[in-house]
Amino acid sequence: MKITYLGHATLLIETKKKKLIIDPFISGNPLAKDQFIVENINVDYILVTHAHQDHVLDVQDIAEANPTAKLISNFEIVTYFSKYGIEGHPMNHGGSWDFDFGRVTMVNAWHSSSFADGTYGGNPAGFVIESEDKAIYIAGDTGLTLDMKLIPLFAKLNLAVLPIGDNFTMGPDSASIAADFVECDKVLGYHYDTFDLIKINHEKAKDVFNKGGKELILLPIGESIEI
Ligand code: NI
Ligand code: MN
Repeated sequence: MKITYLGHATLLIETKKKKLIIDPFISGNPLAKDQFIVENINVDYILVTHAHQDHVLDVQDIAEANPTAKLISNFEIVTYFSKYGIEGHPMNHGGSWDFDFGRVTMVNAWHSSSFADGTYGGNPAGFVIESEDKAIYIAGDTGLTLDMKLIPLFAKLNLAVLPIGDNFTMGPDSASIAADFVECDKVLGYHYDTFDLIKINHEKAKDVFNKGGKELILLPIGESIEI
């Protein structure tokens, strides 16, 4: 799997067969909007963790540019976007489904989830994605929660993507503990620096993980890692 950081909580995941975008928020991201043309992003699936604007802003534009792309999210978010003609696969917490690129399990996140217009967005989630004998945990927006100790029961992880921007989600200290809970030493940090309220010191954050024997990867926007 190739994982490309598109800024904030937006990831592009490429398996041998399919392309997935997670939580598309590019046109509203001051750090990313000049780097990508949303309409030119080719994907087969759009995965959404929760309904907040900084996770769904570009769902509609990407879906329109990719008419065969399918939205994978909770029931409420899939229902919301179905009104705009977007085809979706609804899931809910604790459920797994085998897609043509691999298996997705929707897992708990401790956060909130409502659309910008106030519509209820269901409960916020994270995803465990298993594909090509690799497994990745995408935490979504969340605080540290004991539920993370369940993740190793679903899959042995090769990478954990954890929010580290603090204030709205975990900061580096909690995220380092989360890495222990999910039993994964390799962490890709996300949901940081986009806005003043989530600006962090990169070196300090990396030190927190290093001290715990773990690696925190902070990718420049547009760069990729392979797992
Ligand atoms: Ni959020
Ligand atoms: Mn967010």
